[in-house]
Amino acid sequence: MAFWSLGGSVLGFLTALAGRNMIWICTEAVESTVHRHLEDQLGFLAKRDPELHALIASIQEQELAHLRTAESSQKGRGPSHALLLPVVGALTDLMIWLSTWGDSSWMRAEMARAGRG
Ligand SMILES: [Fe+2]
Repeated sequence: MAFWSLGGSVLGFLTALAGRNMIWICTEAVESTVHRHLEDQLGFLAKRDPELHALIASIQEQELAHLRTAESSQKGRGPSHALLLPVVGALTDLMIWLSTWGDSSWMRAEMARAGRG
């Protein structure tokens, strides 16, 4: 957990150095990646665990608000957006994959097998 906290702090510090707009771009990248993973979880849980599905859906609602704030707070979308979004998104994907011990990939494969991937 200390590792994720350090990673988040370093990422936040570096983007803060680059200015306010970079912070919002970084936030958009993290939030949109989280949103995609929540979508996967909702798809997976829909028929398997309705109670957990409802909980994740309420979390997703909050995360969507963060994403919309990050998107609407940016001043235009230049090359820094095009460059930073996929890089931070990929790093976030990696962090999620590592913290779930690869279960995020397993879940996606399982859904594809079930014909909902
Ligand atoms: Fe968030």
